[in-house]
Amino acid sequence: MSKNVLLTGGTGFVGKHLTDVLINNGFLVSVLSRSDQKNTPSITYYKWDLNKNFIDEEAILKADYIIHLAGEGIVEKRWTKKRKIALLESRIKPIDLIHSILKEKNKTLDAFISASGVGIYGAITSHKICDETTPAADDFLGNTCKEWEKTVDKIASLGVRIVKIRTGIVLGKDEGFLKKIIPSFKSGFGAVLGTGKQYLPWIHIDDLCQIYLKAILDEQMQDAYNACTTDTTTNSRFSKTLANLFGYSIWLPKVPSFILKIALGEMSIAILKGQRVSSEKIQKAGFEFQFTDLEKTLVSCLN
Ligand SMILES: NC(=O)c1ccc[n+]([C@@H]2O[C@H](COP(=O)([O-])OP(=O)(O)OC[C@H]3O[C@@H](n4cnc5c(N)ncnc54)[C@H](OP(=O)(O)O)[C@@H]3O)[C@@H](O)[C@H]2O)c1
Repeated sequence: MSKNVLLTGGTGFVGKHLTDVLINNGFLVSVLSRSDQKNTPSITYYKWDLNKNFIDEEAILKADYIIHLAGEGIVEKRWTKKRKIALLESRIKPIDLIHSILKEKNKTLDAFISASGVGIYGAITSHKICDETTPAADDFLGNTCKEWEKTVDKIASLGVRIVKIRTGIVLGKDEGFLKKIIPSFKSGFGAVLGTGKQYLPWIHIDDLCQIYLKAILDEQMQDAYNACTTDTTTNSRFSKTLANLFGYSIWLPKVPSFILKIALGEMSIAILKGQRVSSEKIQKAGFEFQFTDLEKTLVSCLN
């Protein structure tokens, strides 16, 4: 019988692509969403309301695997005090709720796989290569990812295999990061942000979905894995490559850091700083990236 994979936040960018990959690989997919969705022959939607501590328990009880993707968008709004709480709570509250249902119903899972971010290594710009043994940084993203992953460990205490996918910037056609920046590049106004020296660890959406699939199938996978390609790019190289693909060389001066700080507040560090991240662990686990060349990847995302 087909195994059931429950996706939290399965209506988002990663979730939609992953749903297709899972269905194509013979899994049944359930999705937990805050809004009403129409079931399809291969996807069953369940409601939850984190403010009321409500989950349709059936979603959990029939799941063999849970993939936790839900969470407020990190760069959607300014990081006010209230927003920071929402960013953290929308990621850890679902895990706590799922944990309590699993415990109460004595229900086990084949694996619980959670998104996390390379932001765990902190808002730094340095040549140091961060791997999964690098300690979490003591800044907002570092602490948020650390708490998020620590909450995932509660599920491990129930004897469930857990995997944490520390994701870099996900590239895909008309979605995520590219959706935000392409309009200005397309209009000829692409620019390097800040010094441009900050690293930009990226991964193509197809590779990311294959990593999630591997995390399901490969029982040896355990704990944290960085999910970003072997390509090491900086904001400057990324911006120049993208502008070239639109047929021009960047002519605008670099957008000064202070302007971005005024415009975006503390959130500006998410684009002004960037870590250099190793993908060695996931490769040693047998994963082969299909998208490693920035230019070719961007071309595939633009067509
Ligand atoms: N995309 C990237 O570049 C990237 C990079 C690093 C890490 N990640 C992480 O990977 C995960 C998936 O990313 P994504 O790009 O697919 O995100 P996304 O497109 O923003 O989707 C996230 C989903 O989470 C649900 N959600 C949002 N706010 C929520 C809340 N307050 N309570 C419960 N559910 C909420 C939404 O589903 P409903 O509206 O249906 O409830 C939404 O579709 C996220 O945790 C993200 O932080 C993504």
